[in-house]
Amino acid sequence: MKKPQSHSVPPRLVTLARTAKNTHRLSREELTELLSSPCAEELLAAAADDVRHAYVGDGVHLRGIIEFSNICRQNCMYCGLRRDNGKIERYRLTPEEILDLAKKAVGYGYKTVVMQSGEDAYFTMERLVPIVRAVKELGLAVTLSLGERSREEYRALKEAGADRYLLRLETTDSELYEAFDPGMSHERRKACLRDLKSLGYEVGTGTLVGLPGQSVESLAEDILFFQSIDADMIGIGPFIPNGDTPLADAAGGDFHLTRRMVSLLRLLLPEANIPATTAMETLERGAREIMLTSGCNVVMPNVTEGDARRNYALYPGKVCVADTPAHCRSCMEGRIASMGRYVATDAGFRRRGKAEEKHGNFS
Ligand code: 5AD
Ligand code: SF4
Ligand code: FES
Repeated sequence: MKKPQSHSVPPRLVTLARTAKNTHRLSREELTELLSSPCAEELLAAAADDVRHAYVGDGVHLRGIIEFSNICRQNCMYCGLRRDNGKIERYRLTPEEILDLAKKAVGYGYKTVVMQSGEDAYFTMERLVPIVRAVKELGLAVTLSLGERSREEYRALKEAGADRYLLRLETTDSELYEAFDPGMSHERRKACLRDLKSLGYEVGTGTLVGLPGQSVESLAEDILFFQSIDADMIGIGPFIPNGDTPLADAAGGDFHLTRRMVSLLRLLLPEANIPATTAMETLERGAREIMLTSGCNVVMPNVTEGDARRNYALYPGKVCVADTPAHCRSCMEGRIASMGRYVATDAGFRRRGKAEEKHGNFS
């Protein structure tokens, strides 16, 4: 298919993209219009790529993910790890296994590990704090992605050495959120993000694009919300229907809409760390390259090994499940180099300075 040429884009959209690039501000209506315009995709990607280059540079930050437990007490309708899914083999790595993977991550040259799990109640603070402390002692930046916890638990993990925390809001549409995440509260989720921010974490959040019934207006709202909380990192992925869940027959998220969303996020949050997500690569091979030139500056290769790698099955078709962590490490290095970019050698903390701290009020 021929790529849409910029001269076929209505002048009004060209002006909007230019405004976004120069001022990093758009209204809800303007965002909705751009998100709804497939012809604006390349224009937005090019503008986002320029902003990415100007604000966060050409280095690509690699974060090694350790998926240490696929046990989850929640029952999100879209997710393969939901507690009612009896079809996956559950696992929980031991502290020794987690530490061993973290050491290997150091060996691969990763500067950050992301410790990710379902909401697994087995991992109390007594169990988690020593693990986080030991991983931190390896000299890594530590990102946690363990779901909702109390403020006191977030504080204990921060004191143990955690630097960052990922908790996707999934959607700003509270009705949609509570319909698809039964038993969970949208207010509670936002309170978690607020707690994390006030405890000094770098906070990552994001959207699941393409949930059934999700409106384009709500995606525009998501972008404005992430801007209003001054999110440090934003992970955006398309919803991929999972046959073992109640949403097995739903339509999945659209690659192009997700791409426009990511580019708009770069335009409105120029300093954020934005990953080229595995879910995008699952929809389209080569998506990581496409996304790294559409606003993204982070890739999160998996360092989990063996059966656990296969069983952390949020959605089907996840890429790299049959590859080794060492293979993915060199694969990504080669892919990044072939784009004229490079693997960053610093820990990739959120940069500040080029944009004023004007969006930081979270109330
Ligand atoms: N498709 C895509 N992403 C999913 N996630 C969970 N299930 C799916 C799915 N079926 C995402 C959610 C969650 C993150 C860990 O994985 O956004 O926050
Ligand atoms: Fe659990 Fe997260 Fe999956 Fe929800 S999305 S079921 S909280 S792992
Ligand atoms: Fe896993 Fe390329 S990143 S095979």
